[in-house]
Amino acid sequence: MTQDVISGGQPIHAPDNLKSLLQEILQQAREITDGKVADYIPALAEVSPECCALTVATLDGKVTSVGDAHQPFSIQSISKIFGLMLAMERMGDALWQRVQMEPSGQPFNSIVQLEWERGIPRNPMINAGAILVSDVLVSHYSASKSAVRSMVRGLCNRDTVTADPRVHESEKNHGARNAALAYLMKSFGNIEADVEEVLDHYFWQCALSMSTEDLARSFAFLANRGKCPRSGQQITSHRDAQRINALLSTSGMYDQSGQFAFTVGLPAKSGVGGGIVAIVPDYGVIAAWSPPLNAYGNSARSMAMIRSLANQLGLSVY
Ligand code: DON
Repeated sequence: MTQDVISGGQPIHAPDNLKSLLQEILQQAREITDGKVADYIPALAEVSPECCALTVATLDGKVTSVGDAHQPFSIQSISKIFGLMLAMERMGDALWQRVQMEPSGQPFNSIVQLEWERGIPRNPMINAGAILVSDVLVSHYSASKSAVRSMVRGLCNRDTVTADPRVHESEKNHGARNAALAYLMKSFGNIEADVEEVLDHYFWQCALSMSTEDLARSFAFLANRGKCPRSGQQITSHRDAQRINALLSTSGMYDQSGQFAFTVGLPAKSGVGGGIVAIVPDYGVIAAWSPPLNAYGNSARSMAMIRSLANQLGLSVY
């Protein structure tokens, strides 16, 4: 027996043998030896390159996982979605005066475009954009980290989720480029709070530790028109869920977003810890993890796993 789920008017085939399909995909991914574990944040370089995990959470509440799916890892830029959700809620449309919604076509930590465009980041998914969002959170919340932490714990239903203090510290000590982005934006008047406080929030958020199961559960609301399928709570409006998915489609995989849209066709976000989440509207979430990164800062194995699953099940939104 199989279950058909409707997405974009097309029935998606959700096979009963999903677990064995995931197992097969994970096995194939393990054979990929391309990529290098991020070492520009020294604490990240300590993670084994062999780690590999794949989880699918469907909107009916089923969570299917293979590999190291319970092992928390540094979610890094995937956390940009959490920050953005809170900033969109606090600032509404005024947020888009301070950060654009266009793909950058540049590496995630690029600085050149930021000066040309007078301190207005191209989008909230590159580092400059996420630092700007951190400024909004620090300026609007008396305790910005607690606001993010409690939202994340509620979304993934695990109240021990926290940031890894070693990763937080390591990034703070090697964060010269992010500091440069923040001070450049400050010089253009686009950072309101104290720059060091903003950077501390940003580094802390990047250091959140979660497993692929945590991530797949957390982002189910984005596949479900803004509503958490577990609790029934409306996390964002349907419109904001659509907007976040649009930003993930155009900018979530940085300067590889075009290739990801072409070969996979799903809104997705990566992090230099090796994780990627992909949203399948009206179906569920795919979360993958393996630390070695390609030249764009995206996990080589996680990309291959999501591509293989999306192609085999016909999940592209296009
Ligand atoms: O700021 C940084 O460079 C990291 N904390 C996050 C970058 C990141 O995850 C880019 N992702 N692929």
